[in-house]
Amino acid sequence: MWENPSRGLSCRYRLRRLRKTSSIRGLVRECELEIDHLVAPIFVREEGKDPEPIASLPGIFRHSLQELPRYCTRLFELGIRAVVLFPCLSPERKDPKGKAALDEKGVVVQAVRAIKAELPSLCVVTDVALDPYTSHGHDGIWDPERDWVDNDATVAILCEMAVLHAWAGADFVAPSDMMDGRVGAIRERLDSQGYPYTGIISYAAKFASAYYGPFREAIGSAQPGSFGVDKSTYQLSVTNVREALRDAKLDEEEGADILMVKPAGPYLDVLAKLREKTLLPLAAYQVSGEYAQIVAAAEHGWVERARVRDESLLAIKRAGADLIFTYFAEEVARERASQRDRFV
Ligand code: PBG
Repeated sequence: MWENPSRGLSCRYRLRRLRKTSSIRGLVRECELEIDHLVAPIFVREEGKDPEPIASLPGIFRHSLQELPRYCTRLFELGIRAVVLFPCLSPERKDPKGKAALDEKGVVVQAVRAIKAELPSLCVVTDVALDPYTSHGHDGIWDPERDWVDNDATVAILCEMAVLHAWAGADFVAPSDMMDGRVGAIRERLDSQGYPYTGIISYAAKFASAYYGPFREAIGSAQPGSFGVDKSTYQLSVTNVREALRDAKLDEEEGADILMVKPAGPYLDVLAKLREKTLLPLAAYQVSGEYAQIVAAAEHGWVERARVRDESLLAIKRAGADLIFTYFAEEVARERASQRDRFV
């Protein structure tokens, strides 16, 4: 079947030899998407019972504390081994300083405890930043006089927040705020408070991206009808790769255990370059806008959802990510689980 008639073209290098059958393509596959490597973001709200749909993220819900352990058990049974938690507070719980972030009975503390009680081996990551708690939606303390976010005042609070999350039982804290010096300060504080084994996943290269729009609706950090505040005095400029690498290098020196690039798809160049520069594991966050684009196009019938989804995730792997934070985690895991069942 594969014999080439001699009248064929004289061509010594035939790359299609390696693409001939799916068995051969499997042998030479260079990267793989493993469920082990996925982190599922979960939105958690204090009140309520049933999961509440999020308009800007079809298929993703705000989970109530009550059903959270059940939901996590479902994810765990599908093979998902890590989640990252984002709190959704009602507007009356927010204030300019984000005080609720340090509430010992706050929703994140309760959520971590509830998950760990049920599933001690599920890796729980918490987000360390003030935007879910502040009335203005910035990640830190707003200084009206200088008209920007106060770096050092914010870092002091982030350190307390990290200790609180560690106390609740988080495996990793993930500072997503982009303040200077926060990784070193958090590391020191965790160590001195008796949490030397709570890790830090640093959002090292987090860009001031418009792809965060749906997330801001999900946690209510933007006024309705707006896409939220401008964070370009602390998040990276979309134009700068060298600066991103520098930021990542500092986070590594300050003691980060894992570095993250965010968003993922539009910043594969940063991911690939960082992969060559660091020996740390690399995470990439396929953010809400990346998810929403694929889902919306698929809903219009313009692209094939599962294939574009997998291609987007494989591209992130290929560029150098070890672990991927993605809203598709549950969907991909569910699909894998059903394929597995077919062969047993
Ligand atoms: C902020 C934060 C953001 C996301 C996670 N943490 C967005 C922002 O900077 O407003 C976005 C995640 C996503 O879009 O999925 N601390």
